[in-house]
Amino acid sequence: MDTEGKVLLITLEGIDGSGKSTLHLALKVLLADLNPVFTREPGATWVGESVRRAIAEQIDPVTEATLFVADHAAHLAKIIRPALADGKLVISDRYSDSRYAYQAVTLKGVIQKPEEWLRAMHNGWSIIPDKTFLCVLPIDEALARLKPTNEREHFEKREILEKVQDNYLKFARAEPSRFVIVDAMKEKEEIAQFVADAIRQILQSSRSRRRR
Ligand code: TMP
Repeated sequence: MDTEGKVLLITLEGIDGSGKSTLHLALKVLLADLNPVFTREPGATWVGESVRRAIAEQIDPVTEATLFVADHAAHLAKIIRPALADGKLVISDRYSDSRYAYQAVTLKGVIQKPEEWLRAMHNGWSIIPDKTFLCVLPIDEALARLKPTNEREHFEKREILEKVQDNYLKFARAEPSRFVIVDAMKEKEEIAQFVADAIRQILQSSRSRRRR
């Protein structure tokens, strides 16, 4: 398929255990003909190593949040902006909505109005995705899919994941034209096919809009 002139940034979001990374992998196969750039947050650049260390040490919520933002800045500078400038379709496993959903929870009581603070940190330099697929499922199911409790990151707790998913759903209600809710309880093949077809459709309509 010809993707010329259709510069798109697609993001995949959802709580831990929602199957978003499995979906990302499946899209690599299903959309191979479009030659997209598949990328992720955190960890698309070396800044991600600092983020992983901060998470593992539970260093401090502000340090962790600002490192996630630094990781995003490096990701944009080194991978996303060059790929979009090259006319490539970009598909990122997590992006800025992860910060607004997770760090709004971890910064509660540390910073006043954490979501506003986080959004303000991205203002003026970040890029808003064209479409965001949000994988949604019952928290019990997500927890059942995660590693044993002693190997989990500090985000991967019921009380946090519940609030994170509520945040995501609030964002989807606020921006219904950007968010597509994906039923993460469906079979993984069905989910991947649904998202791959939706991405092809978005590309088609963006091409016809540009021709008008
Ligand atoms: P991952 O499991 O997708 O590799 O992400 C690692 C963890 O980091 C996951 O629990 C979600 C969390 N996270 C944030 O809290 N804020 C962010 O901005 C990002 C990108 C991830």
